[in-house]
Amino acid sequence: MQALAARSLCQHITRGMATSVTRNSPINNITVIGSGLMGSGIAQVAAQTGHSVVLVDQTDAILQKAKERIATSLKRVASKQYPDDAKAMKQFMTETMSKISMSEDPTSNIGSCDLIVEAIVENMAIKQKLFKQLDEAAPQKTIFASNTSSLSITEIASATDRLDRFGGLHFFNPVPVMKLVEVIKCNETSQETFDSLFMFANNLRKHPISCKDTPGFVVNRLLVPYLVEGVRMLERGDASARDIDKAMKLGAGYPMGPLELLDYVGLDTTKFILDGWHEKEPDNPLFNPSELLNSLVKDGKLGMKTGEGFYQHKK
Ligand code: CAA
Ligand code: NAD
Repeated sequence: MQALAARSLCQHITRGMATSVTRNSPINNITVIGSGLMGSGIAQVAAQTGHSVVLVDQTDAILQKAKERIATSLKRVASKQYPDDAKAMKQFMTETMSKISMSEDPTSNIGSCDLIVEAIVENMAIKQKLFKQLDEAAPQKTIFASNTSSLSITEIASATDRLDRFGGLHFFNPVPVMKLVEVIKCNETSQETFDSLFMFANNLRKHPISCKDTPGFVVNRLLVPYLVEGVRMLERGDASARDIDKAMKLGAGYPMGPLELLDYVGLDTTKFILDGWHEKEPDNPLFNPSELLNSLVKDGKLGMKTGEGFYQHKK
């Protein structure tokens, strides 16, 4: 009987019901700031694993879009987890959604917040301004983390007085699917903070790795130069966009080609990453700006999120 009960609990947990499954974690209430591609995904997986989430963005219209994105994604998760059980599927979706509240105020519910995960635009000054405001409002216990793709966590944290309670949590797009989380420990990050962030990533049922605060951590330092080389190939006329993507999918086994992946990640985000690295290391040819990337961003062709990038997409 006991074994059966344990197995049933285990299935319940692995299937991802929105009941609390965090074990000995000091992190239960989280705030996610920025409800775009990444923030909405982070809020979703946190709610799926039993955390209470406040999701913040600048306007109610943006938050409503995020809500729709989360509902669509949850439906995909639920239909796989409960293929033959419409009632359980509905319950999973309702319970998960009920764990997420939305706000335009980043300090909403901050008194009970254990962790803030920032996922706003990839811009140092804007991130620092936000964290300075949060530092003044948040209780001592609150840990701060940035989901930045490329910026120095230490530099972002320097806007605050909580360097020991500041680290990086770098998720991957699409968050509900990608299993990795890079957990970044800066020189000043305390071991206790790092351990809490690592455990939090585990509790989201992700696979965390430990990274130093180096540009692009592990994945993006390898991935971004490769993606941009795909754009340079297209600029040089070496091959068509379709053939570049087909080559990397069929010849190297990648799930998406570089130009498809750029459209998926967002061309604006990639441009911010490249510009930031070029400013810091102007002599590194890997980080040279790309005219094609710049002109697409200037024209508002940011990839899937705007309906057009290297390809046309259904919005
Ligand atoms: N929410 C929930 N589930 C989703 C989902 C979402 N948003 N997107 C895809 N899925 C699920 C689907 O339901 C499907 O599940 P099953 O196989 O169990 O049925 C599975 O994922 C595959 O999806 P699809 O069949 O629709 O499509 P696909 O096979 O082409 O996979 C993909 C889509 C997972 C996005 C895949 O193409 C892929 O892995 N692409 C590469 C993504 C990548 O490299 N991400 C990292 C980007 S870099 C980054 O994030 C860091 C940075 O700082 C820029
Ligand atoms: P996005 O453009 O989809 O979303 C950013 C959101 O932040 C927008 O909804 C915007 O309204 C909001 N925002 C901007 N300034 C704000 C502020 N001051 N307060 C509250 N909300 C604000 O961007 P994204 O792709 O989700 O990227 C967010 C962060 O995650 C960036 O730092 C990016 O580098 C990083 N990241 C992106 C990816 C990716 O594949 N796109 C992957 C990993 C990490």
